[in-house]
Amino acid sequence: MISVSHLTKFYGPRKAIDDLSFEVQKGEIVGFLGPNGAGKSTTMKILTGFMPATDGKAVVAGHDVFEDPISVKRNVGYLPETPPVYTEMKVKDYLEFTGKLHQVPTTSLSKSVKNAIERTSLGDVQNRLIGNLSKGYRQRVGLAQALLHNPKVLILDEPTVGLDPKQIIEIRELIKSLGGDHTVILSSHILPEVTAICQRIIVLARGKIAAEDSLEGLTMRMKKGLIYSMEVKKPSSEGVDAIRKIPGISGVSSNGSKLLVEMTAGSRDVRDQVVEMAVNRGMGVLEFSPEKVSLEEIFLQLTTEENHSAAAHAGGM
Ligand SMILES: Nc1ncnc2c1ncn2[C@@H]1O[C@H](COP(=O)(O)OP(=O)(O)O)[C@@H](O)[C@H]1O
Ligand SMILES: [Mg+2]
Repeated sequence: MISVSHLTKFYGPRKAIDDLSFEVQKGEIVGFLGPNGAGKSTTMKILTGFMPATDGKAVVAGHDVFEDPISVKRNVGYLPETPPVYTEMKVKDYLEFTGKLHQVPTTSLSKSVKNAIERTSLGDVQNRLIGNLSKGYRQRVGLAQALLHNPKVLILDEPTVGLDPKQIIEIRELIKSLGGDHTVILSSHILPEVTAICQRIIVLARGKIAAEDSLEGLTMRMKKGLIYSMEVKKPSSEGVDAIRKIPGISGVSSNGSKLLVEMTAGSRDVRDQVVEMAVNRGMGVLEFSPEKVSLEEIFLQLTTEENHSAAAHAGGM
């Protein structure tokens, strides 16, 4: 549904995105995750036909965004970073207006507006001026205009920014319910946000893709080695040394009765040998389980590693 190859964008001399290539399948919900300045909004503006790239190719819903931006816009609903909601208009009037802009046929316009209002729970405020609404409601108006023409693709730039926790949950549920029928890309600089909504994550850092995977895949791939936690009855330095010498073990650290055993990534599974050795050396194994690596750590690792390799090239925030 979305195919991007070698997309690059310069703002004057500054490279904002650098040779991005990725695909999004029909019905997927994909998250762009990255710190501020990573290039999320820039990529989204290009995919929506809002702004041209400097180089590369992007095809959205079968249309090239450079050759046929009009067809792209017809098939894409876009919630920009700052939703373009006209404060002096009433919610319903504004949605009718955006429906006309998207060339929703007059015969189905009022039905489309009604649907969009229902999906985003705007019924109570449909006759109020947008300027008088809270941030959360305005954001919903932004979502309603993105959904109105029932587009195949939705591009949502930081859809929950500035919302309170209750509103965040509501918007997340709404976005999740859109997957399947619609293909969705959303951006966020907040890790739990993308993990709560998205099936696949593209981590952007300094305009480049630092990683692209499912949530589980990302967790697995980014672990340098697999770390297991082992609780023993009688820890001994002799026992710890013996485990350390097992081929495939890259390190053992101990903290009282808790040992952290790190296995070399990609080597064969030696968990049974570790437990056997601990038992043989009289340590008495009480528990053996994988140590959880937090996604925050992984995200930090990914984006800061990228910073090192990108430090040489000009740019920045
Ligand atoms: N209109 C612009 N003119 C010049 N530089 C820009 C402009 N918009 C964004 N940038 C720069 O491009 C980079 C990527 O920005 P952006 O796509 O907004 O990132 P994100 O949405 O991930 O925070 C940043 O370094 C930013 O300062
Ligand atoms: Mg942005």
